[in-house]
Amino acid sequence: MKRIPIGIDGLDKMLNGGLPSSRCILVCGGPGSGKTILSTQFLHYGAVQCGESGLYVSLDENITQLKEEMAGFGWDLEKLEKKGKLAIVDASPIRHLPGEVKIGDLWVGKRDFSLVSLIEVIKENAKKINAKRVVIDPITALTFQYHDVSERRTAILDFFEALSNLGTTSLVTTELRSVTLEREIRAEEFLAHGVILLHVFISEREIVRGIQIEKMRGIEHDNQIRPYKITENGIEVFSQEEPLVGIHITASALQI
Ligand SMILES: Nc1ncnc2c1ncn2[C@@H]1O[C@H](COP(=O)(O)OP(=O)(O)O)[C@@H](O)[C@H]1O
Ligand SMILES: [Mg+2]
Repeated sequence: MKRIPIGIDGLDKMLNGGLPSSRCILVCGGPGSGKTILSTQFLHYGAVQCGESGLYVSLDENITQLKEEMAGFGWDLEKLEKKGKLAIVDASPIRHLPGEVKIGDLWVGKRDFSLVSLIEVIKENAKKINAKRVVIDPITALTFQYHDVSERRTAILDFFEALSNLGTTSLVTTELRSVTLEREIRAEEFLAHGVILLHVFISEREIVRGIQIEKMRGIEHDNQIRPYKITENGIEVFSQEEPLVGIHITASALQI
């Protein structure tokens, strides 16, 4: 199976080379766990080191703020956009505006904005730049609109399938209030090809971040929770360090 390196050395080591190509991977973590940083790092590395164009679809973050924050890691997203190596689509207006909204070049009725129309937005934009990597950050709000469990399951399955059919390797982020060992396992996690979890632990003195590849179909991978840090260079994963097991997750960690 062809591998797509994420561009985070320790994480690529945990994956024995990278993500499986043309698959749809879920990245789950609480607010501030580094989902946006990790997924932008994946696109930046692809564009700069692998010559692979990337599409970032934001459902949450203001694009100007995103660019400012990512510039802090030395990632010049605007430069990549100008070179046609990156396209950033702001799909967040659906949360603020009534009636029809423009997402990229497409007008979408707010009430129609579903995973189905999101796929159309992605297809359209991915084609323009011949994207090999896609990020949807975060999908959470869209999946909550389905109250019926089987309807939700079908919509998510169709969405993941459509993403894979594009031939792109995709990271889809989802926000969990807490990623605990006994957390509720949601439909997205069953249906994605792979799941990467971002944990927060509180040890006696400090907050410790841990990353875990919960599943990655078709490849052998490290399944332990390894420490990671957010530094000025982005996400750094310490794949050679002792796994974070047995660290007590305190009640306050659950609030993060
Ligand atoms: N230069 C930096 N050094 C260390 N930590 C940083 C730096 N920049 C951002 N962070 C951390 O990254 C977090 C934001 O990451 P982000 O990817 O936006 O989280 P998420 O998308 O999961 O909500 C901040 O809460 C902060 O803890
Ligand atoms: Mg984010």
